[in-house]
Amino acid sequence: MKLAQVRSCSWLLAVLLLIGIAGAQDSAQPTSLPNAPSSSEAPRPIPILSGYLAFVPTWEGGDPTLVSIIAPVVVIPIGDHFVIESRVELEGDFVRRPPDNSFGGQVGQDVQYAQLDWIVNQNVTASAGRYLVPFGMFNERLYPNWIRVFQTDPLIFPIGTGSGDGAMLRGGIAAAADLNVNYALYFSAASNADKFEAERVFGGRFGMFFPNQRLEIGVSLQRLLQGDEEMRFGLHGEWQPRALPLDIRAEFAHARDEGDGYWLEGAYRLEQVRFWRPVMRKTQLAARVQQFWIGKTGGGELPGTDATRAEFALNYFIRDGLKAFASAGRTWTPAGDSNIWTVGFAYRFLVPLGHTSAAAPAATPDELLEGEQRFRTNCGRCHMPPHKFGPRVMSTAVHHMRVRAMLTDEDMRLILKFLTQ
Ligand code: HEC
Repeated sequence: MKLAQVRSCSWLLAVLLLIGIAGAQDSAQPTSLPNAPSSSEAPRPIPILSGYLAFVPTWEGGDPTLVSIIAPVVVIPIGDHFVIESRVELEGDFVRRPPDNSFGGQVGQDVQYAQLDWIVNQNVTASAGRYLVPFGMFNERLYPNWIRVFQTDPLIFPIGTGSGDGAMLRGGIAAAADLNVNYALYFSAASNADKFEAERVFGGRFGMFFPNQRLEIGVSLQRLLQGDEEMRFGLHGEWQPRALPLDIRAEFAHARDEGDGYWLEGAYRLEQVRFWRPVMRKTQLAARVQQFWIGKTGGGELPGTDATRAEFALNYFIRDGLKAFASAGRTWTPAGDSNIWTVGFAYRFLVPLGHTSAAAPAATPDELLEGEQRFRTNCGRCHMPPHKFGPRVMSTAVHHMRVRAMLTDEDMRLILKFLTQ
């Protein structure tokens, strides 16, 4: 076996071991323990295997690439305060190759995150391990194919994102009735280890979310602590007006040497269309514009020249977790213009790894109403709100989302009540 294979095997073993430990813990604790949850408390979370599959044939400048992705996500809650979470992405970009023009290519493997989260208190979560760098919002929130509105990465995506190896502090604070602030501070060490590549950086992100307006704005700052010690700066904004099934999102990134750019997208669900309702409800139309201006050096995955791109997409949500899509766009660069097309589908799966039975927590009608309200405000911000799974699976997902979405304790408690009734 090559060293890389040994590494990925030992990684898998570690995850399996942890699943085993969590599973054993799960069955070793009868519900009659003094501190076991009674039916009035949240159901105990269990490990889950989730993730996504996607097939995205993409034509750029006429040449097709058959992008095929599978990315398992493992979430292992340990008690109420710890979560182990991980995602590995396997991506094959298959292109036509001479002499016979058959499709071929390599499958890239990437451990995108593998971290331990410690929910210290309601405002602080500490994470260690490999994590998604919280620079802007795309990397952490929108990256999975079942979530993203456009299947191609934003042009500025390589600036400041990817994965880091180190530690992070983050959290959400209900600062006022209509204001949640969220923050993340992180440090990453440099690494050349296969599948664990990372830059030595230090950075932070600060955001303000106004739940009534469903509006978030945020800033990101990052200092590269190697090479030319570049500073990177980012802005992100997201707005889902209550009156319309519309998502507006934008990001801007500046890096002294790599370049600057932005993307702006609007996605509209045809819920309000009067005819052909069952189909229209599931249809989303979207447009995105982006620009990139190359800096002194540019960067590996960034476009090699200035570039402007405009795209349109149609997404069709077949059922929970499954969508089909198509998009068309054009890129303008000083070196020439080209078209970009995609079609395909993405599917999110979720398998419980443990006993799923549990009593739903007791809830008053007021709590249910408030829970539903908070579910509507929070759970459709990044992806289509999922259907209900069993109480213990839902409990795991909400723990996972709590870390990801920086929800407050109260949000989590009430949403869980609503989701498990
Ligand atoms: C800030 C963005 C964001 C918000 C808000 C959010 N999610 Fe998610 N959710 C994600 C991302 C990103 C993933 C995919 C995780 C991955 O692939 O690494 C995900 C995955 C999931 C999954 C699949 C299982 C898992 O844990 O990965 C479920 C179920 C889910 N979310 C439910 C919810 C619920 C319920 C809420 C409301 C409490 C919610 N989400 C709010 C971003 C979000």
